[in-house]
Amino acid sequence: MTDLFSPLDLAGIALRNRIGVAPMCQYSAANDGRPTQWHLAHLMHLALGGAALVIVEATAVTPEGRISPGDLGLWDDSLIEPHAKLAAAISAAGAVPGIQLGHAGRKASRNAPWLGGPAEPSWEVIGPSAVAFGDFATPKAMSDADIADTLKAFADAAIRAVKAGYRFIELHGAHGYLIHQFLSPLSNTRNDAWGGDFAGRSRFAREAVAAVKAVLPAGVALGIRFSHTDWVPGGWTTEETVQLCADLKPSVDLFDISSGGLHHEQKIVLGPGYQVPGAKAVREGTGALTTAVGLITEAEQAQAIIAEGSADMVLMARALLRDPFWPIRAAQSLGKSGAVPVPPQYERGWHGANKPPMELAVGEPMPAL
Ligand SMILES: Cc1cc2nc3c(=O)[nH]c(=O)nc-3n(C[C@H](O)[C@H](O)[C@H](O)COP(=O)(O)O)c2cc1C
Repeated sequence: MTDLFSPLDLAGIALRNRIGVAPMCQYSAANDGRPTQWHLAHLMHLALGGAALVIVEATAVTPEGRISPGDLGLWDDSLIEPHAKLAAAISAAGAVPGIQLGHAGRKASRNAPWLGGPAEPSWEVIGPSAVAFGDFATPKAMSDADIADTLKAFADAAIRAVKAGYRFIELHGAHGYLIHQFLSPLSNTRNDAWGGDFAGRSRFAREAVAAVKAVLPAGVALGIRFSHTDWVPGGWTTEETVQLCADLKPSVDLFDISSGGLHHEQKIVLGPGYQVPGAKAVREGTGALTTAVGLITEAEQAQAIIAEGSADMVLMARALLRDPFWPIRAAQSLGKSGAVPVPPQYERGWHGANKPPMELAVGEPMPAL
C-alpha cells in the first residue's frame, strides 16, 4: 500500500511526498503580468508547509489570454527574471516549483472575483467558436493563424518557464479555459479540422502538448489538467478524458484531473473528494501518474486516496490557504510525526523550546532579496 508521505518519482524529479499545492490564481500581479511581493510570500509560505510540489497559478501565455488584468504572465522574456525569484523561493523551501500555463479564451478579460464583472478596460476575447460563456462577451472565432500563434505562445512560455527554473509545467486544459473550450462540443461548434468529432475537438490539446513537449529538456516534467466532465448533458465526458489521456500518455508525465467550469448551467454534485472518481478512471484507464483534487481536506481521506490507488498524488487548494502547514499536521494526526519535516526556524513553534527537535528540514541558505 502506498503511503501519503512516501516519495514519488515524477519523470526523474524526486517529490518528497504525495501532497501538492494546486494552482491558485491570486489576481495580484502587476498589470504587465509581473509577479509581486504577494506571490513571493504566498508561494513560499505554502512550500514551507511541507507540500512536495507547489504549482504556481494559471499564468497567461499571451496578454489576451489573461483571466483578469491581475494574472501572472510569461509572454515576454522580461518576465523570466521575476518568475525565477518565485521558483527559487519555492525550491529553497524544499518543494519542487511548478507552474500552470494557460489561456482563458472566451473566459478572459474579467475582473478579480472580489470585484466581479468585465475587466476595465476590457479587451477582445477569442475562442474556438463565437459562442459566449453565459453572459460573458462573445469571443471572436479563432482563425488558423490565431490557432498557430497561440500554440506557439504556449511553447514560448514553456521555454521561459524552464529558464525561470520551474521543473514541472502544467497546461491548463480544464475549467472552461481555451484548451477545454476546444474539447467540449458545447463551446466548440467548428466544422473544420479543429472541431467536430473527438479527434477534431481534441486536436488543439494534442498540439499544445506536442508543442510544449518539444521544448522541454530532460529534468522538467509535463502535466496537463483536464476537467473530466462538464457536468452538462451533451458536454465533454469522462470517457473522452480517459481516451485523450491514454493518447497523450507518451508525452505527459502527470494528469491532473478536475471537472467543470465550461458551462454556466453545470450541475456539479459536490461532496468530499467529488472529483476523485475522475482521477481514478484516468489512472486505471491509462496506467499514468494521476493526481486527484477537489474537497480533499482530511488527513485520513488523503491517505485513503493514495493507499487505495485512486490517485498517485493529491493536490489541495482551499485547505492549504486556511492552513499551509496542513501536511505537517496531517503527518502528526496519522501518527507519522516527522514524515513532513518542520522548518528549523519554526521548530520551537511545533515542539517547544526545550524539547528535542524532531525531523527538521534544513535546506540550502535562502537567497537574499
Ligand atoms: C483562490 C483559488 C484560485 C484558483 N485558481 C486556479 C488556477 O489558477 N488554476 C486552476 O486550474 N485551478 C484553480 N483553482 C482551483 C483549484 O486548483 C482546485 O482545483 C479547487 O479549488 C478544488 O480544490 P480544493 O477543494 O482543495 O480547493 C483555484 C481555486 C482557488 C480556491
